[in-house]
Amino acid sequence: MKIFTGIQPSGDLHIGNYFGAIKPMLEQKNNLIMFIADYHAMTSVLKKNNLLKENIKKAAAAFVSLGLDYKNNIFYLQSDVKEVLELYWILSNFTPMGLLERAHSYKDKIAKGISPNHSLFSYPVLMAADILLFDANKVPVGKDQIQHIEIARDIAIKINNEFGQIFSLPEALIDENMQTIVGTDGAKMSKSYSNTIDIFTDYKSLKKQVNKIASDSTPLEEPKDWQNCNIFKIASLFLNEDEQNSLKQRYASGKEGYGHFKLYLCDVIWEYFSKARAEYERLLSTNEIYDILNIGKDKAKVLAKQNLDKIKQAMNI
Ligand code: ADP
Ligand code: TRP
Repeated sequence: MKIFTGIQPSGDLHIGNYFGAIKPMLEQKNNLIMFIADYHAMTSVLKKNNLLKENIKKAAAAFVSLGLDYKNNIFYLQSDVKEVLELYWILSNFTPMGLLERAHSYKDKIAKGISPNHSLFSYPVLMAADILLFDANKVPVGKDQIQHIEIARDIAIKINNEFGQIFSLPEALIDENMQTIVGTDGAKMSKSYSNTIDIFTDYKSLKKQVNKIASDSTPLEEPKDWQNCNIFKIASLFLNEDEQNSLKQRYASGKEGYGHFKLYLCDVIWEYFSKARAEYERLLSTNEIYDILNIGKDKAKVLAKQNLDKIKQAMNI
């Protein structure tokens, strides 16, 4: 089974991204094709502040330092494999307007007052090209991306109906057990809610983010309820069973306040990512990450060229 997924380079990664998406992906030891979706990111980043180059370097350095096995898998930058743009145009000819007009993510953005342009509208066609170019069958994504995978499937079916079995049909791989990591306010952790705890921030900022975690007003000398405590919920992501049990005891003892638990959590997070953080900083201070992306580019291009040739031949282009 080939697992294929793309991630937009969209600024600093938080622990919700890590436990919800990155860690499960990194557990995949081989047969993984993963790319940084920089063309997709252009739909928002270009207009704001053009941090694209910086964000690409940060995202690539983050995945590699967190343990992405780029040697045994394929890890590439979308814009390094231009074949995707040719396929995107070919697919456009088989994409009814209505299919794109019904896309929730497009409609949501319009509803938020973002003025619609063509790249935003045709975003799902480019995503279909990403997937179909690599003949991917399982595509792990968040729930918000399911419809985009369905669009890719619809386009593939339309072309298969006219030209024979060119494409295998992609399926979204949704992890139903995937937990939603809570942010500092108890809601889903998300960049858009400013309630994140970032993976690679400095100690002072980490402390500031952890200090924002909402807690109740139980006085220091009273036992505290770990079950409904966001500090505990976040800490438990990082702790083994014994460590969780001893933290529960500290909650029950009535000798410590939430401030102590926050300080503890801060140290736990700092320690957990310390090796990755050192590697991340090293990668950011050199150009090594571009060599790593070049390795991926070479591997991805071979597959992309082969498949695109096959597709064009079958379609008599
Ligand atoms: P954000 O909401 O901060 O913008 P993204 O939408 O860029 O995050 O998410 C990137 C990936 O991380 C997606 O696969 C998404 O499902 C996962 N993810 C983001 N936030 C969380 C969270 N709070 N809990 C679990 N997974 C998350
Ligand atoms: N649209 C996806 C997101 O925002 C990123 C993406 C682009 C993608 N192309 C893809 C994901 C192909 C899976 C497969 O999360």
